[in-house]
Amino acid sequence: MAANDDLPIVLCVDDERIILMSLKMELKDRFSDRARIETADSGEDGLAILRQCVDEGDDVALIISDQRMPGGMQGDRFLEEAHKVVPGARTILLTGYADIDAVKNAVNRADLYRYIPKPWEPEDFALTVSKAIDAHLQARLVVEKQEQIERLTVAMVTALENVNLINDENTGLHIKRVGAYSEFLARKAGRDEIFCRRIGLYASLHDIGKVGVPREILVKPGRYTPEEFEIMKSHVLVAERMLKGAGIDEMVRNIALYHHERWDGSGYMRGLSGARTPIEARIVAIADVFDALITERPYKPALPVSEAVEFITRSSGSQFDPGLVALFLDHLDEAIALKARIDAEYALESAAPLPG
Ligand SMILES: [Fe+2]
Repeated sequence: MAANDDLPIVLCVDDERIILMSLKMELKDRFSDRARIETADSGEDGLAILRQCVDEGDDVALIISDQRMPGGMQGDRFLEEAHKVVPGARTILLTGYADIDAVKNAVNRADLYRYIPKPWEPEDFALTVSKAIDAHLQARLVVEKQEQIERLTVAMVTALENVNLINDENTGLHIKRVGAYSEFLARKAGRDEIFCRRIGLYASLHDIGKVGVPREILVKPGRYTPEEFEIMKSHVLVAERMLKGAGIDEMVRNIALYHHERWDGSGYMRGLSGARTPIEARIVAIADVFDALITERPYKPALPVSEAVEFITRSSGSQFDPGLVALFLDHLDEAIALKARIDAEYALESAAPLPG
């Protein structure tokens, strides 16, 4: 690997070879320690280079394109396509004309970073390129930090899930399915991507407080006595204590604490009703009960989906948020497909030979 292989790429596109070469020399002189400079003499070639960069995992920081390239793709059109290939890269359009339409297109469709009229003033040009590279690196750093936090969160959630599994191995696939149904229902409810990903991750921790419930109660076949039921209910309070720390996402706390609240206010532990229960907990409540009904437990056989649907429908407006129930039932096929996929993945994992 060459020493500068880790540097981000700056791609210059111009159909006039002399201009392209002088652009390359100018950029190399000033930025060879901060970027790798690539060139293309047409928009088509530029796109081919960008696709190759994506395939090879190269980071493209900046694309500089001439507007007027007779016989081929024009600059604004090229930047529009380039933006689709590498949406994170900054774009600069060079034009010798006051071509306001092209600039407008590039701003609207390629998220244009700057427009530079030809001939450019070298110092201004260098400053603009420098700022574009800085802006790109800054944005990349933010994304890397977010990914790092996400990886750490997934690792912590997995560790907590494993704690649950030690105590009650029957919940293994249940918590995965509840995560999947919850994410799917959140999407149907029109929540944004971040919300959906968070709920998909955190829903699996809804019963984390069961780590504080004696194992003989967790796996007891048959119905609970009133005393046992009180102990079982306490898993919500155990979770509240576990998830109290600063920096823990409020959503995970809301899910663990409120997933047994009911729409009519008769649930536990706070007796919240209607939309006073956070939506993430109302979503998980449906996902949790639906999956529990259609799967076998030590104390009950699996119900057919039709009976589970009947129960959920009957409980709409009393136990469950009626709007969410309607959405869930409207897309029931997708929930069933999710269950089949997760169960099949597990069957494959179980069938795989153990390493060593
Ligand atoms: Fe629970």
